Amino acid sequence: MLDLLITNARVVNEGQVQTLDVGIRDGRIERLASHIDQPARETLDANGRHLLPGMMDDQVHFREPGLTHKADMASESAAAVAGGITSFMEMPNVRPPTLDAATLEAKYELARERAWANYAFYHGASNDNLEAIKALDPSTTCGIKIFMGASTGNMLVDAPQTLESIFANASIPVVTHCEDTPMVQAREQAYRERYGEDLPFRLHGEIRSREACLKSSGMAVDLARRHGTRLHVLHLTTAEEMALFEPGPVENKQITAEACVHHLWFSDEDYDHLGSFIKCNPAIKTPADRDAIRAAVNEGRIDIVATDHAPHTLSEKNNSYFAAPSGMPLVQHALLSLLEQVHQGNFTLETVVEKTSHNVARRFEVADRGFIREGCFADLVLVDMTRDTHVERESLLYKCGWSPFEGTTFRARIEATFVNGQRVWDGQQLVGVPAGQRLTYRRS
Ligand code: DOR
Repeated sequence: MLDLLITNARVVNEGQVQTLDVGIRDGRIERLASHIDQPARETLDANGRHLLPGMMDDQVHFREPGLTHKADMASESAAAVAGGITSFMEMPNVRPPTLDAATLEAKYELARERAWANYAFYHGASNDNLEAIKALDPSTTCGIKIFMGASTGNMLVDAPQTLESIFANASIPVVTHCEDTPMVQAREQAYRERYGEDLPFRLHGEIRSREACLKSSGMAVDLARRHGTRLHVLHLTTAEEMALFEPGPVENKQITAEACVHHLWFSDEDYDHLGSFIKCNPAIKTPADRDAIRAAVNEGRIDIVATDHAPHTLSEKNNSYFAAPSGMPLVQHALLSLLEQVHQGNFTLETVVEKTSHNVARRFEVADRGFIREGCFADLVLVDMTRDTHVERESLLYKCGWSPFEGTTFRARIEATFVNGQRVWDGQQLVGVPAGQRLTYRRS
């Protein structure tokens, strides 16, 4: 007896769209066939709608522990499953920062029975935790996060010898935030002198400049080449940086690259109406940069598309330029923004699935997720590409209660999300209980 039988779904998986039935038992996909004639406790007729492997978001900030006035594991993972995200990898710039095995394990405890999606946590790097990095157990974390540029939280790693040692000693993927902090600080000072405190948000991309991004990303790539490190460079924002990365299948790469949904959607033309809402690091840059990043997604230079979901409260955001923190909440509409771009002709559905799911599983060697295959966990999202989603403040599940997408209509809808075979989102509301599991890895 199957627990759930999904019939007549247009399954988007591994470069193909095929009409299939999907049989689910004990949390996993048991059968995949053009027709399954097997009894099931529940049957769902997908009626030709698209079934995708759930998005695996490799970059989120859910703010626990210590910053729960902005967000928490329960609220943000609820928003994630409403948006079709079934697994997340969460960042270490919390309080206390995640810099050793004990702080890491404490986060897994916080997620247990509270996370609606499956979860992993990054081990952070600092200028003085090399011994903890050397000692870390590769089965306990998705990767090592290095802030090679200062951002929210005080986690900058800028000591050259420390960077050399981390890149030389990392046994698992290293992921980097790349912006050259001295260059950013020099621009901040110059712009403060010129404009005072209240400068227009549209100058954010000049302060957090393209040169600062390129210098730091180039340095990360150089370090990884010299040390043979498995490097994944996060949230790239400029056309020039695309040339640092090679096209080709992610399995063959030592160095991979990520773009985030807001850099694929917004441009510096949006600062005048969205202001601090789209202030983030690295900054959103020009329409030409956005076009170059979209092209790089299609060429395979960008391997993964993620969110960098980084919520701050409205009162924190409602400040002048220097006082407003960087980052925006994104998980609830990330996949929808990409599906809208399928309608616009920017991406194919197959590419969206490859970048948001398959390649994350491949890059981080996640076990049994990221694909619609027999034996994999049933982490699935049912999507209707013919119905709209209008983003209104009342529909947001984020603790911070706002979104940069308010007022936008996406020409797609998340009809249902399944995590480990359990329906957790029914198109209108959360259902069931938070039963995300800890991610595991196939690592040699
Ligand atoms: O805009 C950002 N916000 N970029 C980051 O790197 C950190 C994030 C946050 O945690 O707020």
